[in-house]
Amino acid sequence: MKTITEDIKTVLFDEQTVRRRVAEMGAEITRDYPDHSEDLILIGILKGAVVFMADLIREIERPVYIDFMSVSSYGKGKAESRGVVRILKDLDEDILNKHVLLVEDIVDSGLTLSYLSDIMVRRGAKSVKIASLLNKAERRVNIVKIDYCGFPVPNEFIVGYGLDYSETYRHLTYIGALKESVYK
Ligand code: IMP
Ligand code: MG
Repeated sequence: MKTITEDIKTVLFDEQTVRRRVAEMGAEITRDYPDHSEDLILIGILKGAVVFMADLIREIERPVYIDFMSVSSYGKGKAESRGVVRILKDLDEDILNKHVLLVEDIVDSGLTLSYLSDIMVRRGAKSVKIASLLNKAERRVNIVKIDYCGFPVPNEFIVGYGLDYSETYRHLTYIGALKESVYK
């Protein structure tokens, strides 16, 4: 039987490295929202951001609300000049006059987050910022400002710590690049 580790080409960031970086990000966020009388809501983008979100909120030393959204995007193919994002699960919480922090596993084309940032602004968020564990900058199509970025990653297929390939590998404690033979 083939084991999961056989599918991983390289471990990019091990468990300890990820934990340390997420702690730094939490400290930065704590510093950047010093007024605890203002509401801060972290919005995790399902499902990839779940593991990162769970660790990140525990590194933030101020009150936070949390909520989740699920989206699917089309038009990521090379031939498409403009993609479309569809909301599969919307927020339960109201974001009016709250500071919004969108929490994502990886920014690839940037389509998802540029679309979601616009929505949050239109819905009356007090501010909108982005925290992404990973940044695959080489693939960017839509310009997005990542306010809190965990690690840059090369243009490879990344899995683990919430990130999947075909709904597998999310449970890995580390972040790795998948062997091309698995997805090609
Ligand atoms: P974007 O709209 O192209 O930025 O899409 C980002 C989404 O695509 C992420 O939330 C992931 O779900 C998915 N994604 C992009 N690259 C990878 C990858 O290397 N591994 C796993 N998921 C990825
Ligand atoms: Mg995602």
